[in-house]
Amino acid sequence: MQHMARLLPRLATLTVIALACQAHADDKVLNIYSARHYQTDDAFYADFTKQTGIRINRLDGKEDELLERIKNEGARSPADILITVDAARLAIADEAGLFQPIQSKVLAQRIPAHLRAPNWIAFSTRARVIVYNKANVKAEWVQTYGDLAHPRLKGQVCVRSGSHPYNLSLGAAFIAHDGEQQAEAWARGLVQNFARAPKGGDTDQIKAVAAGECGVAISNSYYLARLMRSTKPEDQKVMDAVGIVWPNQATWGTHINVSGAGIIKTAPNREAALKFMEYLASDKAQAYFADGNNEWPAVPSVKIDNPALKAMGAFRADTLPVTQLARNAARAQKVFDRAGWR
Ligand SMILES: [Fe+2]
Repeated sequence: MQHMARLLPRLATLTVIALACQAHADDKVLNIYSARHYQTDDAFYADFTKQTGIRINRLDGKEDELLERIKNEGARSPADILITVDAARLAIADEAGLFQPIQSKVLAQRIPAHLRAPNWIAFSTRARVIVYNKANVKAEWVQTYGDLAHPRLKGQVCVRSGSHPYNLSLGAAFIAHDGEQQAEAWARGLVQNFARAPKGGDTDQIKAVAAGECGVAISNSYYLARLMRSTKPEDQKVMDAVGIVWPNQATWGTHINVSGAGIIKTAPNREAALKFMEYLASDKAQAYFADGNNEWPAVPSVKIDNPALKAMGAFRADTLPVTQLARNAARAQKVFDRAGWR
């Protein structure tokens, strides 16, 4: 919100400038609305400007606020690009008609098909993993998401809200692979096993596992990598107490979610926008996501240099198309509601 306040006046000015110069619109600026808030991202924005000479105006905000803003601005929106995390959220923006089709050979070549939709692309991935307390829980007990619903883990499960997109996408994958009935049975079992009512973010669940308040939790991989790379003694203590499991290695593969972006339908700086999308798939930008924010590059050939990702090792990721995750997210919400996963 702080960023928003700072950038609002600048964007208001931008709208005026864009309208005044419509006849000879050049592509030397790019207006990005971002719901991705990682400080390390500043580096790749700066690098894009250095490489292309295109200045970036960035409006940071919450997902819903940015979507509403683009809708309200209508045809006069200065927004060229929307960046956010989670496949379902990207799909919501797409269904609202905010994006335009992406025509790029570069992106078609670099980004694997299951990480692309016609109107948006995923540029990095994160895995949803199981974290367990090494003193109280055996890794063999929690080899799949399904295992978390086993009665043996009664009173042991900590997880954030069922309506958070990270869990909805996991639920969406569950539905796609095993069907809605099984997904619901799983969610019910999970709720039965809760150590406490869902609260906090993924990092809070990891810390609760380390503290012994719960035996197991579900978390995105980059939160774990962040703790692994932290020099704070309390974070190192947390990571000493917990183990990490790549779930579902023998079945559908570990669920992954994405960061992604689309070009806004009314983008005033279309060429610059496409350049930026292609930049996101470049070796350099891809390495920023991996090294800066501990995500995996969407482009498979990219070499990364991240000690935490290296320590976490290789795993088999689910290759379910991101478009299908997006499609099932609303069903997942209903399933979780029925199961009482608030
Ligand atoms: Fe996150």
